[in-house]
Amino acid sequence: MINFSNFYKTLGNTKLADWFPDLDKLIQEAFMHGDFLKWKNRFESLPKLEASVLDLSKGALQIGSSKDHSDEIILDLENKLREFHPWRKGPYNLFGINIDTEWRSDLKWNRLKNKIHPLTDRKVLDIGCGNGYHCWRMYDEGAKYVIGIDPYLLSVIQFYTIKNFIGEKSVWVLPAGIEDIPGNLNYFDTVFSMGVFYHRRSPLDHLYELQSFLRNEGQLVLETLVIDGKLGEVLVPEGRYAQMRNVWFLPSCLTLESWLKRCGYKNIQLADVTKTTSEEQRKTDWMKFLSLKDFLDPNDENKTIEGYPAPMRAIFTAEKK
Ligand SMILES: C[S@@+](CC[C@H](N)C(=O)[O-])C[C@H]1O[C@@H](n2cnc3c(N)ncnc32)[C@H](O)[C@@H]1O
Repeated sequence: MINFSNFYKTLGNTKLADWFPDLDKLIQEAFMHGDFLKWKNRFESLPKLEASVLDLSKGALQIGSSKDHSDEIILDLENKLREFHPWRKGPYNLFGINIDTEWRSDLKWNRLKNKIHPLTDRKVLDIGCGNGYHCWRMYDEGAKYVIGIDPYLLSVIQFYTIKNFIGEKSVWVLPAGIEDIPGNLNYFDTVFSMGVFYHRRSPLDHLYELQSFLRNEGQLVLETLVIDGKLGEVLVPEGRYAQMRNVWFLPSCLTLESWLKRCGYKNIQLADVTKTTSEEQRKTDWMKFLSLKDFLDPNDENKTIEGYPAPMRAIFTAEKK
């Protein structure tokens, strides 16, 4: 089963240890949850396979090669991995099995990796990390350790499925939401919040919360949906946005910058603005549900099917004073 003993051991002498009793309760509850129990047996039936190669530096994270085991064993693994559908974040290449995920998460990583403080030896928190694809990229850049959190249990299971083949490394995903992290930690060197901001009902509170997890001078990497527009402009969708129910605030870049300033961040930089394309987000054999193309106006790909501007994402970096 998923074992957090190395997490507790590695972080036992840090500020995070005060969180352990509550965290332990949270983990126990997650493991009793119906969604988790649904996948537990499948997770436990995964074969234990040695991997001859580990390369976390390329777009598709490579773990093992197709020559490591017989075709039969690899086919059996592939069938088991497919049971964890939908695979949204990736891609991964496990023993030659190409897990072609809905998102080419590597494209986002490429847009930001040279725009952030180098991660060497840094303590990193990734809020809303999904199945942890970016956590591995962060670790590969030399982070001391990476803690991802995500309340969606299938993502947590997918992360440990991958980790089982990678082996023990200082990268963990906790079945937790941002609201479960103690405030005023004043601890992490870098905090990532990617694809989470627009799901928060109180965007400025989110910026304050993220700040409270950072040590002084620590860096925030914030990635979110934005609109073209002037200072002060914000889109608050009336209902769904690109079919998503829980999208609250899409500011213009100037507005978001002013919010970061207002919350007391310094050295605020707009690192990137990119329109989401069907190359980056699409239906695949590993994610068979609807995807970006289905959420855009069939007659005008600059609009969502609700008539709002099509998804465009910005990456900001900022530091805590
Ligand atoms: C759009 S995905 C972004 C995933 C990844 N960070 C990326 O950039 O590709 C948003 C993630 O936030 C997670 N999430 C939802 N509510 C959350 C909460 N309260 N705290 C932390 N994460 C949350 C979702 O489960 C989902 O995996």
